[in-house]
Amino acid sequence: MADYKPKTFEVHGKIEGRIKSGPTTGIYQSTAFEHETAEDIENILSQRKFGYTYSRINNPNLTAFEEKMNLLEKGIGAISLSSGMAAVSAALLSILKTGDEFISGKSLFSGTYSLFTDLFVRFGIKPVFVNSTDIKEIENAVTKKTKLIFVETIGNPRCDVPDLKKISEIAKQAGIPLVLDNTLATPYLFSAKDFGADIIVHSASKYINGSGNAVGGVIIDTGSFEFRNNEKFDDFEKFKKYGALAYLAKTRRQVHTNLGTCLSAQNAFLLSLGLETLSLRMKQHCDNAKALAGFLENHKKVKKVSYSGLKTSEYHETAKSQFYDNFGGLLTFELESKEKAFKFIDNRTFLRNLPNLGDAKSLIVHPASTIYIDFDNDTKEMLGVNDRMIRVSVGIEDSEDIIREFEKILEKI
Ligand SMILES: Cc1ncc(COP(=O)(O)O)c(C=O)c1O
Repeated sequence: MADYKPKTFEVHGKIEGRIKSGPTTGIYQSTAFEHETAEDIENILSQRKFGYTYSRINNPNLTAFEEKMNLLEKGIGAISLSSGMAAVSAALLSILKTGDEFISGKSLFSGTYSLFTDLFVRFGIKPVFVNSTDIKEIENAVTKKTKLIFVETIGNPRCDVPDLKKISEIAKQAGIPLVLDNTLATPYLFSAKDFGADIIVHSASKYINGSGNAVGGVIIDTGSFEFRNNEKFDDFEKFKKYGALAYLAKTRRQVHTNLGTCLSAQNAFLLSLGLETLSLRMKQHCDNAKALAGFLENHKKVKKVSYSGLKTSEYHETAKSQFYDNFGGLLTFELESKEKAFKFIDNRTFLRNLPNLGDAKSLIVHPASTIYIDFDNDTKEMLGVNDRMIRVSVGIEDSEDIIREFEKILEKI
C-alpha cells in the first residue's frame, strides 16, 4: 500500500485498486444483488470470487466504510456492524466461550458493563474487572482461563487513560489478545496497532460519524495476534483455511452474520461521509476541550474536572506519551450537588442535553440519572460516575462561545 497519510485515506478510502468508473458516492439501498448466472452466486458464496449477494452479509457501502476504517487503523481487515455494542459483542464472542474468563477495565461505557455482567455471565463467560490504570492489578488478574484483555483507550466517562504499551505486554506474555475500544480516541489521537492492540472496536456513532445522524460500529483486526494453531483458541481450527484472516472470517461468519448485526447501507454511507472530516473535527474537538477544561478547572463553583489534557490530571503523562498533544473531546466536571448539576443543564442555551458524544455540536448529560440510571450507587462509583457530575462532549463551535456559555450558566446556578 502506497504511503498515503490518514487525512487522504479519510477522504478517499482505498486508493490503489479502486474502481475508476461509476459514481463517487451513492447508497446501495438493495436487500439483495442479482447475478447473471447461477454459477456466479455459487462462486461468491463459496468465496472463489468477491461479490455481493445479500445485504445482511455484505453491501458495497459497507465495504467502502470498512476499507476506510481498516486503512486508518492499519489493519488487515474490518467488519462494520449495526452499533458499537454489536462491535464489542461480536469481537468478544468470536473469541470467548463458556467457561472462559476475560479481564476488563472497570472504567467502561454502561452498555459494555451491562453486556458483560447481564448477558455474558448467563452463558458462563466471566468478566474479571480491574483498574485499567493499575498495571500490577492487571498482571495479577491473569489466570489459565483468561482469554483476552479488554480496555477503553480513554475510559468513558471517567476519562482515565491506561498505559496501553504495558497492558499489551501483559497480554503478549499471557499469550492472549488485547481488545481495545478506541471510540473516544479515534485513530486521529491514537495509533492503536503501534501500541500493541490486536483487535480494535469502535462505536462509529460518535466521532467517526461526527454529526449525530447514524448508529454504527466497526471491528478491525490489526493482524498481530495469531489465533491459528493455538491450543488456547482451538475454536479457530475450522477457520484456519482463511489464513491470516481467520479471526475476521470467524467473527463475520459465525457471530456477526448469524446474529444479524448488520449495518444498513444508509448508515454506512453516512459514516463514510463523516470520516472525510475526522481529522479536521478532532483537532477542533481537542483544542476546544483543552480550553474548556482549563476554564472549568479555575472556576470556583467547579469542584473537579476530569480531562487528561490538564497538567494536573494524574493521567496526563501517560496520555501525552500516547496521544502527543491532543487529549480528546470528552471531559467531566463536578458541581456541589445533583441539584446544581440539574440546574446547570436546565439553564443551557446552545448546549444539547442528550446522551451521545462525538457530535460536532457540544453535548452535555447527567450520566448518573441517564446512561447509568440502572445501576446502584456502588456500581456507579466503580464505573466512575456520581450524582454531582456532568459529562461534556465538547463540540467544534467557536471555543470563545463555548466558554462564554459555561461562564453564563455557572453565574446563574
Ligand atoms: C466507549 C464506547 N463504546 C461503545 C459504545 C456503544 O456504542 P453504540 O451506542 O454505537 O452501540 C459507546 C456508546 O456510548 C461508547 O461510549
